[in-house]
Amino acid sequence: MLTQAPKGTKDMLPQDAYQWQYVEAKMRDLAARWGYREVRTPVFEHTELFQRGVGDTSDIVTKEMYTFLDKGERSITLKPEGTAGAVRAFIEGKLYNEALPCKMYYLAAPIFRYEKPQAGRLREHHQFGMECFGGKEPTVEAELICALFELLGGLGLKNLSVHINSIGCPECRPRYHQKLKEYLGERISDMCPTCQERFAKNPLRILDCKEEKCKQIVKDAPSILDCLCDDCAGHFEKLQTLLAARNIPFALDPRIVRGLDYYTKTVFEIIMQSGREGLALCGGGRYDKLVEELGGPATPAAGFGIGIERILIELTSQGLLPENPGITDVYVANLGADMAVPAFTFTQALREKGVKADCDVCGRSLKAQFKFADKVNAKYVAIMGGDEYARGTVKIRNMQTREEVEFSLETAAEETAALLK
Ligand code: HAM
Repeated sequence: MLTQAPKGTKDMLPQDAYQWQYVEAKMRDLAARWGYREVRTPVFEHTELFQRGVGDTSDIVTKEMYTFLDKGERSITLKPEGTAGAVRAFIEGKLYNEALPCKMYYLAAPIFRYEKPQAGRLREHHQFGMECFGGKEPTVEAELICALFELLGGLGLKNLSVHINSIGCPECRPRYHQKLKEYLGERISDMCPTCQERFAKNPLRILDCKEEKCKQIVKDAPSILDCLCDDCAGHFEKLQTLLAARNIPFALDPRIVRGLDYYTKTVFEIIMQSGREGLALCGGGRYDKLVEELGGPATPAAGFGIGIERILIELTSQGLLPENPGITDVYVANLGADMAVPAFTFTQALREKGVKADCDVCGRSLKAQFKFADKVNAKYVAIMGGDEYARGTVKIRNMQTREEVEFSLETAAEETAALLK
């Protein structure tokens, strides 16, 4: 127990850190070019934020939240998603008084959901999300979807298709609920208990059920796209025109309703390619009522969240991860304990020149130091000691070609750094 991480959590071990950093660097670069600035919100918030924001009929709120009372008897919840916290920060920071739209992103934000763990489904995962406040036009969703394509395409992922839908607004959605309930009326007793519950509270969510018998019934249900009001229909139409103008492949998918209650109009998902049924790589949409619902001024908004672990699964399964860059370019070996100080100072000098350098800290023999240098794939080994040191020089060995050069100790750090350029 003591040496086992809690179920559904995963360490990022040092040897894998470069994979995360590779993906995260692409995300930061993307966000900067799209005009999004970083936001960091607390890992926990008042439970009410998620009850009001994400919705108390959603699976996330009813079944999956990590909620506890703190020592002051306040109900606290570990963030089960990133949007509600971003909205709370937008309101609390009065960002609505600044130039709008206000675009923000969060990177590698830890998200907690008490789900049944499986490949790609964790109890703690990390999201990159982009949220835009103050833009009511579908250009916002179009630019978010374009950003996702650029990000995933830039990582080498191919054959991406975004599934888009519109789930209407408080004006047209009740009409659809009515129509759906009429269709489901006599069939609901054949559906799963969860759907029977959803029927009363949130019938839209029935469309998302993964149970085979429910899927069969829902297959011929009326489409929400036929019930949209003029405003929602026009918005959705424009979004499609914008995506087509950028040759973004998309599919209309009226079954996408999303697992969170705050969406209005556009919702979208990108599905994982690696055959993991039902797992989305990314999800997002418009949430025009949420800022107001949480106590801010009426502000249209839209965004997406993408799971970093799921991206890494895709990159691994498609062989798209870059090579491990290695931890040490130059290993400074000493020829004996009396050479430990010059080896140490030379290592520091190399680091100052921007070189990834290391030296012995374990009191190892020369042979063991070479073995270590091999293990960490050092490109060069600097050998500190012997006749060379007596002459005021240090020998640098190329570990691949075995070629050796000798540099004066005075200029060796600079010259070694130049070898690596
Ligand atoms: P979500 O679809 O619940 O949306 O999650 C977004 C992404 O997080 C998923 O597509 C997936 O990549 C990843 N993810 C979700 N749950 C897990 C899990 N248990 N294990 C691993 N990865 C997971 C949201 O959270 C919304 N806040 C997205 C959004 C932002 N909508 C508007 N703005």
